Amino acid sequence: MRQKLLIFGLTVLFIGAIIAIGIRSVDSQNDMVARGKYLVDAVAACGYCHTPRAGAEYNMKMYLAGHPADNPYPRYNFNMMQQNIFLLTSPLLSAFSGPFGTSFASNLTPDKETGLGEWTEKMFIDSMRTGHHQGNKENRKIFPPMPTKHYALMSDADLKAIWAYLKSIKPVKNEVSPVLNRLGRPF
Ligand code: HEC
Repeated sequence: MRQKLLIFGLTVLFIGAIIAIGIRSVDSQNDMVARGKYLVDAVAACGYCHTPRAGAEYNMKMYLAGHPADNPYPRYNFNMMQQNIFLLTSPLLSAFSGPFGTSFASNLTPDKETGLGEWTEKMFIDSMRTGHHQGNKENRKIFPPMPTKHYALMSDADLKAIWAYLKSIKPVKNEVSPVLNRLGRPF
């Protein structure tokens, strides 16, 4: 009888511990997502380029979804250098053109075909750290004005929190145009 009671007691303790660990890990995942949101929205201002505008406001239907496909974009020409013009942007503030070529803010939502849905955490962290497309050093450099040099200085914990938050936002289907070189051709 005493042995049965002991086994029962141990089982209850064991199940309790598993539930407690489960709740704590859900809590820490929630904390991580909340920290990621804070970093994205308040500190690193990712939406400043990655969320297109609707007039003067952000277009929240396109939250972090990048430059809308088929939306017009500016083209730099080198005569502008004499007029001291270096960077052009579209009215939605999500496409940019300069002496480097033309870039379009990427779709950071977890959409599988057009966003970061198929990216791994490693690809994301490596792209922020190395400044190379998809975090692969063999790939082209990520174009301006993406401030990779600054984000590269973030801690692993912060980049992981940003990644956790980006995975949690609403996926938006938006096929962002690839970057164009100085001649206006795909890279
Ligand atoms: C000043 C504008 C600007 C800000 C702010 C900005 N980005 Fe970007 N980002 C861009 C542009 C433009 C591109 C496209 C560059 C390219 O395709 O080479 C880009 C590309 C990316 C890419 C794709 C990189 C790749 O490997 O192709 C990721 C991921 C990304 N940004 C994440 C972020 C995150 C996360 C933040 C906030 C922490 C952020 N960006 C803030 C402009 C910005």
